[in-house]
Amino acid sequence: MMRYKSIDPNAFSLAEWHPYMIGSVIPRPIAWVMTLDGRGRRNLAPFSYFNVFSSKPPVAAFSPSTSARTGQRKDTHTNLLEVPECVIHLVPYALAARMNITTGEYPHGVDEVTLAGLETLPSEVVRPPRVAGTPVQMEARLRQILSLGDTPGAGQLILVEIVRLHLAESILDEKGLPDPRRMDVIARLGGFWYVRLEPQSLFWMKQPRNPAEVLTWAELPEDLQRSSVLTAAEIGHLLAHRPPFAERLRHLLPPKDPLALHQKLKTFLPHDPLGAWQYYLQSCGGDFS
Ligand SMILES: Cc1cc2nc3c(=O)[nH]c(=O)nc-3n(C[C@H](O)[C@H](O)[C@H](O)COP(=O)(O)O)c2cc1C
Repeated sequence: MMRYKSIDPNAFSLAEWHPYMIGSVIPRPIAWVMTLDGRGRRNLAPFSYFNVFSSKPPVAAFSPSTSARTGQRKDTHTNLLEVPECVIHLVPYALAARMNITTGEYPHGVDEVTLAGLETLPSEVVRPPRVAGTPVQMEARLRQILSLGDTPGAGQLILVEIVRLHLAESILDEKGLPDPRRMDVIARLGGFWYVRLEPQSLFWMKQPRNPAEVLTWAELPEDLQRSSVLTAAEIGHLLAHRPPFAERLRHLLPPKDPLALHQKLKTFLPHDPLGAWQYYLQSCGGDFS
């Protein structure tokens, strides 16, 4: 049984609570946001309270809080009130340290693009330019700002509509879609930790379309239910991929050496659950020709 530390957010100050907040919901993608102020001066800053929330209309949101340090609005927020447009970029590992330079709460008007030695490209639809070298760039227009409070730490949720998406050709698969294996972007974790999206940390999982595609727990052979070798995640992958010959599972004899068999099944998971099932059936003398 897992034991839990249970926390009441209201019992903590912002400084005490914030690490729990950013450490608990991970990984968070990073919106690296370019805006312009009313005088046309550039501003670039990262926000990991960020995601997309609607496909049609295509809406993204990120949340610059009221600054804990100054109690003021962040420049990105102020700029969007002056010029209601932005470009959101994902951050490639190659630019991680440059992104970090742009997080400093510098005085209004400081150009983080120059400070971090970044190159830009003109946008097609909006006025703020794009950061060159980023794999995904979204030109966007302000839709709505939802203030979640006016005290330090209170999020100012900025909803923007994506009006142009730019994808580096180097990240596209053969269908022209973004391939996560080629993106090499980073995401924010708790504290000062980040994670880099690398091919070896990815796995593939098709969504079941109806209950018949799933194997129920009761149908899972008993040795697998009790396995001390397979992890909960690996058992999950077996359940999620009902083999076409599932009906035959309950007629099988229990495996002679379940430990060795389960070790072998591990080698198929998570990428080839049907291969694992096939091996299981063969090992238990199943005829599934
Ligand atoms: C990876 C990363 C993610 C961040 N996410 C947020 C966030 O979601 N909200 C926020 O208010 N500040 C966030 N910050 C801090 C802002 O980047 C920082 O306050 C910045 O100076 C704001 O810039 P601006 O005043 O030019 O808008 C983050 C910093 C880093 C390094």
